[in-house]
Amino acid sequence: PLSGMEQEDGVRQELGNLHGIPLFKSFIEGWPQVKAFQARPDDLLISTYPKSGTTWLSEIMDMIYHDGDVEKCRRDAIYNRVPFLELKVPKAPSGIEQLENTPSPRLVKTHLPVQLLPSSFWEKDCKIIYMARNPKDVVISYYYFHQMAKIHPDPGTKAEFLENFMAGKVAYGSWYDHVRGWWKKKQETNMLYLFYEDMKKDPRREVQKIMQFLGKELAEGTVERILHHTSFKEMKKNPAANYETMLPTLMDHSLSPFLRKGISGDWKNHFTVAQNERFDQHYQEHMAGSDLHFQME
Ligand code: PPS
Repeated sequence: PLSGMEQEDGVRQELGNLHGIPLFKSFIEGWPQVKAFQARPDDLLISTYPKSGTTWLSEIMDMIYHDGDVEKCRRDAIYNRVPFLELKVPKAPSGIEQLENTPSPRLVKTHLPVQLLPSSFWEKDCKIIYMARNPKDVVISYYYFHQMAKIHPDPGTKAEFLENFMAGKVAYGSWYDHVRGWWKKKQETNMLYLFYEDMKKDPRREVQKIMQFLGKELAEGTVERILHHTSFKEMKKNPAANYETMLPTLMDHSLSPFLRKGISGDWKNHFTVAQNERFDQHYQEHMAGSDLHFQME
């Protein structure tokens, strides 16, 4: 049971259920405003399942929007520069309120599954960039994030969390449904679908894909600066990108830093052989019939 103080701060909330998707109760309270959100045609949506490279992509996008001006991209914390659409916690402006006060062209972050995206993004034909990451690294990253980001329920042991993740009993529900749902939507819409693993392997190529999608041209030196500024090492020490300015009641970086490892294949340091076999089996079953493929390292 939560103490009165914890409930008031929105920490260690039990998850509610939004149209079949497990989600923080405070976010569900704000849902009517999110559903009615009026997107603008020049909004760009950054969509991800949690822990898939949202912050990385957000920093890259803000740098592209500001022609690689590092100082401009230090103007505020990443969670204010790229408001989080469905965010709603006590005693802080909601994502919707932040977006209303953001001048165009806006960058918008969401983790919503495709079927819950407010309809005005489709009506206004907004550009969307989705980024996916392999589920083994996502579940490990999500496990450590549950420890430091106190809005989540207690994750329990790693083994318990792994079970909950596979069953879709975590905030935002099934990873499989999320990546497959957005992948399917890609065929019919104005959308770029990227992978964390590709971004790790060849960030220059991926940044160029993004620029092409945006119809944006930048000098070689500017691209170079963007790549440098958005490297894990640079972002980790940048207070405007590393979430260290967040209220300590909401995030405790001493338990696990927000920019934790930033690599592909860290799951190998955490999964037992048996867990890996079970996970592979489950993965095969849930990805069957899909042409969506993941690099696990
Ligand atoms: S959130 O809370 O869902 O928005 O988190 P998200 O930003 O999607 O994911 C956090 C993970 O992304 C890693 N990260 C990076 N990796 C490589 N390069 C850069 N620049 C970078 N920035 C963030 C971050 O470290 C988290 O992954 P893990 O595996 O936990 O380190």
